[in-house]
Amino acid sequence: MRTSLYVHVPFCVVKCGYCDFNSYVVEDRAVHLRFLAALDAELARARAPRQPTSVFLGGGTPTYLDPEAFAQMFAILARHVDLAACPEVTVEINPESLTPAKAAIARAAGVNRASMGVQSFAAARLRFLDRAHDAERARAAFGELRAAGFTNVSIDMIFGLPGQTLADWQADLEAALALGPDHLSCYNLTFEPGTKLHHQWQLGHVAPNDEETDRAMFLWTRERLAAAGFLAYEISNFAGRGGMCAHNDHYWLQGDYVGVGPGASSHRAGVRTTNLKPVDAWADAALAGLAPAASAETLTPWQRAGEAVWLGVRRREGVDLAEVGARLGLPVAARFAGLVQRQVACGHLRRDGTRIQLTDSGLLFADAVGAAFLSGDTGAPGRRSHAE
Ligand SMILES: C[S@@+](CC[C@H](N)C(=O)[O-])C[C@H]1O[C@@H](n2cnc3c(N)ncnc32)[C@H](O)[C@@H]1O
Ligand code: SF4
Repeated sequence: MRTSLYVHVPFCVVKCGYCDFNSYVVEDRAVHLRFLAALDAELARARAPRQPTSVFLGGGTPTYLDPEAFAQMFAILARHVDLAACPEVTVEINPESLTPAKAAIARAAGVNRASMGVQSFAAARLRFLDRAHDAERARAAFGELRAAGFTNVSIDMIFGLPGQTLADWQADLEAALALGPDHLSCYNLTFEPGTKLHHQWQLGHVAPNDEETDRAMFLWTRERLAAAGFLAYEISNFAGRGGMCAHNDHYWLQGDYVGVGPGASSHRAGVRTTNLKPVDAWADAALAGLAPAASAETLTPWQRAGEAVWLGVRRREGVDLAEVGARLGLPVAARFAGLVQRQVACGHLRRDGTRIQLTDSGLLFADAVGAAFLSGDTGAPGRRSHAE
């Protein structure tokens, strides 16, 4: 079975108010070095594939590590994984902590794709998001990646900030396009429970943008990026010269993956494990030679089927229910026939044989459509559970 590898680096220079990823502001270098030692221990015991289909180093902020620690991370990885044989090795970059030296270290280690979180080029919006960089630094970091030889650079952007107008977002995306990225991810800001942003919303200090504006931004983004030659291969992801992100696509196709680092998840043949989230607890377990997992869950075949549609329906190609059924040994197309029928009737899905795809209007309701399959809502009254 093809398996990909995810490495989670949990440190950041600042905790952005909107972010609910497992990341912490930790300046203490000793903690970074202990993290690296624990990573080595976990990789040794995790049965990580020697030749994964893809590797993704994310966070958190991998580039927050100082140059020596950053180089050590790749040296550790190289002990367990044949990076040179891996077709796609991505590292997440933050503009404020990238340096030419770190870009060169990553390239020399075999990283062939960089994904840089920029989010916005406007000073006020960067401030609102608590970002530690400005537009000028983002442009300079992009140049440093190119100078180091990165030919596949992706940029992450966020739209739909409170008070942001369509014209504001258009200026932001044009600024990103002007850099000539090879791939773009454009996310609609979400108010994640537990974040500072969510708390401020609950206190009434801030409110989400109105839905109409967000929809206009979403639709314009698709049009503009299509005109610029980008393929919208997933709702938030656009492939330019660099092609799709194979790592994420493997995940959306419900491929197996091994995740290492605090809070990272793994999925193998229907068994999902999730690591301990606190860096100390995770490192204690890994360094003691134990599996640093907090939970393990065996998904039922019908849960897997629901997840396959939930993940896959966001892809441009949609999902072939017969294919999912054959893979999982279940009558998936028959089971979901009622739900598909309903979603087709209300214009959210189109059907081509057993393949389902979001329509243009359905794209705006992707979360709700996916959630219906995930919840086991088969469209047949009285049958809402996958527990069989
Ligand atoms: C968790 S971050 C890690 C990358 C890197 N540390 C950074 O800050 O760019 C991955 C991406 O998820 C997106 N993201 C995180 N939280 C989000 C939210 N609440 N709403 C929309 N996008 C979000 C951002 O675009 C970010 O670049
Ligand atoms: S968005 Fe990136 S930099 Fe900000 S807290 Fe999350 S992981 Fe860290």
